[in-house]
Amino acid sequence: MHKLIYTHQHDAARLAKDELSRFGIHTIKTVSDETSLAESETDIFAARCAIHVSPPIFVRHICPVSVSIAWDGVEAEAYEKTLALLQSIYIGNKTVGIQARSVADVSAKPRGALLDAIHKAARDAGVARANGTPDYALSVIMTDGEVMLGFSPAALNLSTFAGGNRSFRRSDELISRSEFKLLEAFEVFGITPSGGGALDLGGAPGGWSRILLGLGYDVVAVDPAELDERMSNVAGVTHFRATAQQYLAKIGNAGASGVLFDFLANDMKMESSLSSRLVCQFAPYMKLNAAVVLTLKLLPGKYLKQIYNARKILETRYDIVGIKQLFHNRNEVTVCLKIKGM
Ligand SMILES: C[S@@+](CC[C@H](N)C(=O)[O-])C[C@H]1O[C@@H](n2cnc3c(N)ncnc32)[C@H](O)[C@@H]1O
Repeated sequence: MHKLIYTHQHDAARLAKDELSRFGIHTIKTVSDETSLAESETDIFAARCAIHVSPPIFVRHICPVSVSIAWDGVEAEAYEKTLALLQSIYIGNKTVGIQARSVADVSAKPRGALLDAIHKAARDAGVARANGTPDYALSVIMTDGEVMLGFSPAALNLSTFAGGNRSFRRSDELISRSEFKLLEAFEVFGITPSGGGALDLGGAPGGWSRILLGLGYDVVAVDPAELDERMSNVAGVTHFRATAQQYLAKIGNAGASGVLFDFLANDMKMESSLSSRLVCQFAPYMKLNAAVVLTLKLLPGKYLKQIYNARKILETRYDIVGIKQLFHNRNEVTVCLKIKGM
């Protein structure tokens, strides 16, 4: 059996566990509220390739565990085992990121000495350290009782960030924490900003509109609520202060000509089927190569049924690019769509 560590949101542990069991990966124990240890029935590389092809919604990050080290005498053992691990694989001139994470309180453990030993082993193995996104990840997971090491192509880990914890720098201009969701969605779904017109449904207080403006879009933000004062009277942002349904009626009355958007964002606080139906009603006002990003707000219980129902509605007008519970999603998942047939 091959061991691996995976992460998920704290309230999605059972969903993530079920998703992995479909790939023959069975959970052994909970390591922390967002981290679990599992083992794979089959070759772990093959299982992870299958996961990569058909990505789960709730599993955020996955990495193999090939070595376990006790905290006693950790320094010497970590050096030897890391060196042996790195020398056992042909890395060539590919880059390696050392991704260390504590999943318990390890403040009383020799964490600094452990990491120094691992970094020294990487230097002595002659591997090139990654500046940005690494080709390979050396995962170091620190629990109360042991340290687990795993080495793998970063692209097979579902996220190239340690534990899938994608954090962004907080700028002074930040209007809402929701902004991080949209930034993460662009990355996760590989969306290239096209510029042009973006429609931002549920746009207040203006975080997503700010990001879209920064990515080169002219934004129409639709929301009965006020925009943050920093977003009012900004060139490139128009606030339609009403509901999405009212905006739909307005552009419907004017005729579709002249109203074609390049991007549709929807972060409306709304039941997921209703929200999906509205997104479908906006399809005639989207250009053929437009991308759509929406959050599905999930009511407690039966997450899968809500996602299934929303998916069935969305598929009438769009192809699903991906559905994922992002690091920045709480009680929701993010969906990326393309106009059907593109
Ligand atoms: C989570 S907030 C959106 C935050 C926004 N993405 C940001 O970054 O600032 C949800 C918004 O949905 C709006 N909303 C709820 N129902 C709506 C509807 N029918 N039409 C338009 N907006 C709606 C609410 O007024 C609220 O401002």
